[in-house]
Amino acid sequence: MAESMVGLRRTCRCAEVTKDMIGREVTLMGWVQKSRNKGRIVFVDLRDRSGIMQLIFETTDVGEEGFEKAGRLRSEFVIAVVGRVEKRSGAVNENLATGELEVRATELRILSEAQTPPFPVEENSKTKDEVRLKYRYLDLRRPDLQRNLMLRSQIAAYTRRFFTEEGFLEVETPILNKSTPEGARDYLVPSRVHPGSFYALPQSPQIFKQLLMCSGYDRYIQIARCFRDEDLRADRQPEFTQIDMELSFVDVEEVIDVNERFLAGLFKEVLDVEVPLPIPRITWQEAMDRFGSDKPDLRFGMELVDVTEVVRDCDFAVFSGAIEGGGSVRGINAKGQGAMPRKKIDKLVSFAKDFGAKGLAYLSIQEDGSLKSSFGKFMKEEEMAALVQAMDGEAGDLLLFAADKNPVVWDVLGNLRLELARQMELLNGQEYRFVWVTEFPLLEWSEEENRYTAMHHPFTMLMEEDYPLLDTDPGKVRAKAYDIILNGTELGGGSVRIFQSEVQEKMFEVLGFTKEAAYEQFGFLLNAFKYGVPPHAGLAYGLDRLVMLMTGAESIREVIAFPKMKDASCLMSEAPNTVSEAQLEELGIALVSKDEERE
Ligand code: AMO
Ligand code: AMP
Repeated sequence: MAESMVGLRRTCRCAEVTKDMIGREVTLMGWVQKSRNKGRIVFVDLRDRSGIMQLIFETTDVGEEGFEKAGRLRSEFVIAVVGRVEKRSGAVNENLATGELEVRATELRILSEAQTPPFPVEENSKTKDEVRLKYRYLDLRRPDLQRNLMLRSQIAAYTRRFFTEEGFLEVETPILNKSTPEGARDYLVPSRVHPGSFYALPQSPQIFKQLLMCSGYDRYIQIARCFRDEDLRADRQPEFTQIDMELSFVDVEEVIDVNERFLAGLFKEVLDVEVPLPIPRITWQEAMDRFGSDKPDLRFGMELVDVTEVVRDCDFAVFSGAIEGGGSVRGINAKGQGAMPRKKIDKLVSFAKDFGAKGLAYLSIQEDGSLKSSFGKFMKEEEMAALVQAMDGEAGDLLLFAADKNPVVWDVLGNLRLELARQMELLNGQEYRFVWVTEFPLLEWSEEENRYTAMHHPFTMLMEEDYPLLDTDPGKVRAKAYDIILNGTELGGGSVRIFQSEVQEKMFEVLGFTKEAAYEQFGFLLNAFKYGVPPHAGLAYGLDRLVMLMTGAESIREVIAFPKMKDASCLMSEAPNTVSEAQLEELGIALVSKDEERE
């Protein structure tokens, strides 16, 4: 039978007991990490979210009954203990903050017994993800997850404090919204009152925050839950949290300024890491040319080199053909990897093919300066020498080349660069390298839909000087959009917004919306703009990604209390799930099985 805690009051948490409390009485409550029965003496490690405290039970202090109870303690029992703080009599545990102390119990109550848990509650558990997620409430007891969630809370608290001091107002925006066609797939919620109609859960508060600017709120901030029905990856979840903001009467500079100060302050306060300001900025074009990625990891070099001009007229058809087809040839120099065995190179080739490469040409420079390559036989000696020179090749280097359309070359080499950095152990987990990527293309051609789509979203302002290109060469128009990248992860992104109705209407036209369709989807925003709208701009961070990078977690699942699996299900609650006939009927919904649909 569980005992009551009536009459007891916890005085502090386990790790809040300090040396200057020696001799004082404390009351601790928590979970039994482990207990060791030595016959006349029982040691128990007591755990709560702050850490661990060693308890010591002997009949002289806790009495016969208390000692008998201590003998019954098993892992994960919840107990309350009154006792005296002492200097540890046995060996000091250097791994514990409280390793020099122990609490000699004078009273013990078992508040709750526990079954043997399906896995041990301890740091760095090797338990399979499926089991961990099924018993998430136990998994969440592990110190590493507790640390992650405590850091998350600290980050959210700092965020609110910082932006409040900067004059931002926290405003909540609705969760039940209208579906809009741009962006990822929506999660839909059927309406009971309007059978056949659906709400969409917000992919972001984008339109509402722009409306708040129209309404004069000036500076808005929200820690907002967002929902996107897209394929999940290690840094994506179907529901995730944004630190979302919007500012009036500003342009790119002001948004970047306040956010740089935010990031520097946050990293200083939470991690004691200095972020040197200003954070470097590169344009999207430069990011692609140098790193083959719009989210470059700046912790290491190995930049891409464009060798198109060097090989334009060579006899190697793979190179010259790609160039003739409007593409390019680019390479990376894997310094000191010239002795890489053939088998390992072949793995790199198939890695490149996974990213759409037709092949990967390689050239290794031997220690004696001679060259070994997969394409030397097609090239003249002086062409090879020119190539080596263009790549800054030295004895012992491995040069890798991709020839194709630019987007393929970038993607292949950008990913290869990261893979080589992993293999060469160039990624330092203690280093935080931020970079702003600016001047993104406004539009992106969708082969699937045979039209341009907005790269960021349809409310993003273009660079004024590119305005004429909207009619002549829309793909070349640059946006006033910026992403903040940390160690190769997109932490956040935003843009200056279109606030002129004519420009917005023009934008919808380029995106292939008729005026009617644009008004049907976004009419409330377009109408709002007719009643006086300030110039405005904003940005949103992925809070989960920020916490992931700050904790060093491998996946955003490690920083979300109750995350979803890869198939967007929750193993613990078994969501999503079927509902009763009655519920469906009330909503006016009849289910069609996939087979019937195909008939
Ligand atoms: P965007 O779509 O770039 O911009 O999203 C902003 C940031 O949110 C994070 N993020 C995600 N995190 C976890 N799981 C996901 N599925 C996921 N999708 C996005 C990323 C990303 O950088 N309204 C605009 C912002 C603006 O223009 O102000 C927006 O939502 O870290
Ligand atoms: P092949 O003539 O097909 O034997 O190719 C010679 C070398 O060029 C091989 O190492 C191929 O992997 C490489 N290669 C083929 N296509 C490409 C490409 N598009 N870009 C770079 N290298 C390629």
